[in-house]
Amino acid sequence: MRQFSLALVLAPFLVSAAPVAELDIRQASISIDTLIKAKGKKYFGTCTDQGLLTTGKNAAIIQSNFGQVTPENSMKWDTIEPSRNSFGWTKADYLVQWAQDNSKIVRGHTLVWHSQLPSWVTSISDKATLTTVIQNHVNTEMTRYKGKIYAWDVINEMFDDNNGGFRSSVFYNVLGEDFVSIAFNAARAADPAAKLYINDYSIGSASSVKTQALATAVKRWISAGVPIDGIGSQEHLGSGSSADTLVGGLNALVATGVSEVAMTELDITGASSTDYVAAVTACIQVSKCVGITVWGVRDTDSWKASSTPVLFDSSYNPKAAYNAIVTYLQS
Ligand code: G3I
Repeated sequence: MRQFSLALVLAPFLVSAAPVAELDIRQASISIDTLIKAKGKKYFGTCTDQGLLTTGKNAAIIQSNFGQVTPENSMKWDTIEPSRNSFGWTKADYLVQWAQDNSKIVRGHTLVWHSQLPSWVTSISDKATLTTVIQNHVNTEMTRYKGKIYAWDVINEMFDDNNGGFRSSVFYNVLGEDFVSIAFNAARAADPAAKLYINDYSIGSASSVKTQALATAVKRWISAGVPIDGIGSQEHLGSGSSADTLVGGLNALVATGVSEVAMTELDITGASSTDYVAAVTACIQVSKCVGITVWGVRDTDSWKASSTPVLFDSSYNPKAAYNAIVTYLQS
């Protein structure tokens, strides 16, 4: 009885010291995925892989706070097909199974990319062989996960950083632009239900040279019947991008005629609340932006760890930017 009375006496003080709502936000039990879905988007996701999913609080955080996963490395060519027709599925299988077990959407990343490409591919010099190799790689990887991947980054980073032309790669150097239709047609045939994306960086504003080059090319390809459904804007951002600039970038991509766009690899130097809210605002304001993927759970594991660019700190605590996104999405 005495204990009961004491609890009653102390209760108001305990509540005022740590209000339930505030506690929830600090512990990130409020899911930015649930909140962004309430605004009509498909997902708020992150990248991960087997090594991370079996370390620390990564799995728990993704289960609670995110609705989509992108394999950070396990679906790249050097992991999947390190030598011709010899496939390594272990890590990608783990990621896809984990996503299925936890009802998470998967974005497949990535089928044709100049980087993380084994030397047996870069040394191919004739068109017929490279065409067959692309078709076989795309078909085999997509068929394995058919029906389990929402969208594929069919081609990653094909444009040059500076002059807006094509990046020099074995694909472009041997096949010219034809590697685009070869890859996309193979992808459509392998899994007709998957959304097929071009993915690139430095296309976050309408005025960037790369945005303009990419938009011109995608328009041309779509009118020629190349089955491109979406464009992914990676959004590896420095600090200070305004929502208006990012909206302009996304709208320039939408204007190509694709059915959707996405922020596929978001991270922001310093991760200020203002910058993250600006990025989320941009996706919310563009109806064809289907979702946002942050490139990593905690700073320590980010490819840009020293710039602390993601939403959880080294101890897996949600940062101010996470809570600011919650507040914005609740408004
Ligand atoms: O797995 C090996 C390990 O066995 C080895 O001991 C170690 C030694 O360096 O390397 C490990 O592989 C590293 C791999 O990440 C897994 O940690 C590679 O060296 C390293 O290059 C690789 O970096 C990845 C990078 O892409 C290159 O593929 C990053 O994690 C990943 O975040 C980054 O993601 C890219 C997107 O795919 C495309 N857009 C840009 C983005 C950032 O660079």
